[in-house]
Parts: sequence; C-alpha cells; structure tokens
Amino acid sequence: MYNAKRAFSLGALFALAATTAAANGGSCSAATGLTCPTDIPCCSEFGHCGDTNAHCRFGCDPRVSAQDACENVPMCKNLNINAFDRLAWKGIMQNPDEYHGEADEYDFTLDKGDIAREDNMLTMIMTEDNKGTKLSSTRYMLYGEFNARMKVTGNQGVISTMILMSDIHDEIDWEFVGAKTGEGQSNYYFQGETDYTKGDTHDFPHPDERFHDFGLNWTEEKLEWKIDGVVVRTLNKADTMGWDKVPHYPASPSRLQFSVWPSGIEDVSPGSYEWGGGAIHWDEGPFKATIQSVSIKCADSPTNVGPDDVSWKYTMSEGNATSLGQASFHPTSEPYKASSGGLSLHVSSPFTLMATLTFALVYCTF
Ligand SMILES: *[C@@H]1O[C@H](CO)[C@@H](O)[C@H](O)[C@H]1NC(C)=O
Ligand SMILES: *[C@@H]1O[C@H](CO)[C@@H](O)[C@H](O)[C@H]1NC(C)=O
Repeated sequence: MYNAKRAFSLGALFALAATTAAANGGSCSAATGLTCPTDIPCCSEFGHCGDTNAHCRFGCDPRVSAQDACENVPMCKNLNINAFDRLAWKGIMQNPDEYHGEADEYDFTLDKGDIAREDNMLTMIMTEDNKGTKLSSTRYMLYGEFNARMKVTGNQGVISTMILMSDIHDEIDWEFVGAKTGEGQSNYYFQGETDYTKGDTHDFPHPDERFHDFGLNWTEEKLEWKIDGVVVRTLNKADTMGWDKVPHYPASPSRLQFSVWPSGIEDVSPGSYEWGGGAIHWDEGPFKATIQSVSIKCADSPTNVGPDDVSWKYTMSEGNATSLGQASFHPTSEPYKASSGGLSLHVSSPFTLMATLTFALVYCTF
C-alpha cells in the first residue's frame, strides 16, 4: 500500500482535537477517528472523503464513513489466470470510474498507474509521472489460497508488493524492497493498527532476474507465507492475542492487490524512505514488476455463507460518548452491482466528536 499508515503521527492526532469531522477538509482516518461528513460520505482506502466509486465501491472504510454509505462488496470466486492472454487482459478494468460492480466481467481494477501486456504477462510500470501502479481484485476474499508468479523490481527506493487488504485495513503483505534484492518481507496488520514489529524477512535467490511463486495461505486459524511452494512463515491466530484479549489477526474480506510504488521520494514518511533504502534514481526507470500468473482459491466455507449470498455488507454498532461503534460484516444476498447510475445512500452520522477522540486515544496506546 502507499503507507498512509506509516505517516501516522501524534501531531496529526492532537491537531484533531480542534477539528470537527464536518470541517475535516476531506480527510478521514480510523487511526485518528476522523469521520467523513454526510455530503462526501465515503472514506477511501487512502483516507479521503468522497462519493465516487473509488470512495464508496471499493476500499470504503465503514468505520469512518457515514452510516451505510459503503457499498456491498462481491464475494470470492475462484480465479485462475495462467497467462495474460487477450481474454485475461479484458478482465482488467483500466478505468475504475467506469466500474460499477461488474465483478463477473472484471477480475481486477487498475486503480492507479500503467500496465502493459508483454509476452502474455502483465507488467506494472512505474514512471516519474505516474508515481506508481496498483491493481486490486474486484472480489473480496475471506480466507483462501493466493498465488502469483512474479518478477519484482531490484532498484533502490522502489517497492513491489502482493498483498491482501480489507476495507477495515486488515492487511497481509508480501513486500519486496528493491534495495534488498534476494529477500522478501512478510508482514501483517490488524485493522490498521500501527504496530511495525510483525514483519519478517525471507531469502530467495535472483529476485530481479527470475520469476518466483509467491503464495499466501490464509485460513481462519493460521496464515502461511510461501515462496516457490515452500512455507517460509506460519502465523497462528492463537498467537496474536492483543492487550484487549481479542486476536489481532486479519479476519475480514480482503482484496488481492499488486503494486509497484516509490518509497524513495520526499512525500513519504522518513520511516518508509529509510526502509526502502533511500532515494529512487528515476533515470534507472521506468521500473517494472511483472506478473506471469495469478490464482485465487476461495476458502471452502467462509463463516455462515449461504448458497444465495453474493456480497459482504458492513454494519456498525452504535457508538456512544465513551466508545466508537464496532464494524462487523455479514454475508448477504443483496447485490453488489449498481442497478442504475449513481449510488443510493442512507446517511446519518453515528459518531460524536467525543467518541472520535476516545477511539484515537485507544489507538495511541498501541
Ligand atoms: C492451506 O492450509 C490449510 C490448513 O492448514 C491446508 O489444509 C491446505 O492444504 C493448505 N494449502 C496449501 C496449498 O498448502
Ligand atoms: C458505550 O458503548 C460500549 C460498547 O458498546 C458499552 O460497553 C458502554 O456501556 C456504553 N456506554 C454508555 C455510557 O452508554
């Protein structure tokens, strides 16, 4: 991801104390509890309020969007792309503004940047102009097996990724730091919690010269990261118990995303800049990460899903002065596709500023 979370700072939190949600100028964040106002009700994956597809249809964070503003999202279907032939290529929606939930037609949306089809492979291209490329699956998976055969970039200040990301920012990562060829970094986050102690590194040979299979096997009980079919890391849910006696384990419907993005530029946080090995050298570009094949095998029976269920829907419990409402999701037979243009919104704002601040303070104790 573009590491908005790594830019989180206490400064931003205290600035919030004097800010009402309605006057937030279009920013939103579960880390600070800043909620979108009803006229721009959806909080995007990157923390901006708005009412477009990119805000309400995918990546919409229900915790800091107006009540019921986020659209239902489509459930997992198995996907097997062995090569990016013409048919597979047509499954990539390159203009996300024109996507209205046609998950049967499109497997991925190009959220940002540029891609090219070369030798039946998909190349994500980063240039100084586009500042990175990102693809997201149109469907949301709650557990499953994920594999991609990829060649990642080996340039300083460039990050290639394959991740699972949910709308409440549960996140499971494979990240490849260009400055550190020969290793992949596994990581995970629970609901956007700013805890950077959970990463690990795993060696593999010739990363920028050869293709490798990167895999994630995500079940309700455990998570495995794989390289070339070999499990290199296992995380048991039972070992993720948090201070609040709740497992801090990714457990919400997630999109599979691929990206190549610049860590070596001035607008990223100093932490990300350093992590990426320093400045990007644009003259070495354009930078490319290539995907040869992708597969998604849905978990056999995600919790409580019935035969007619097609989408996931989030609901929020009512917040109060001392506690922010909790996000929960459930399977439903309600469609995820817009029936006609536009979005139907039933808007009311459940959060008080007090609840917002309490939430922010709770987050700060991590
Ligand atoms: C994924 O994990 C599950 C549970 O441990 C296991 O049954 C399954 O065989 C694994 N899948 C792969 C491809 O390793
Ligand atoms: C606020 O909500 C929390 C969580 O739902 C609950 O435990 C608490 O009793 C509520 N407090 C008040 C004052 O209603």
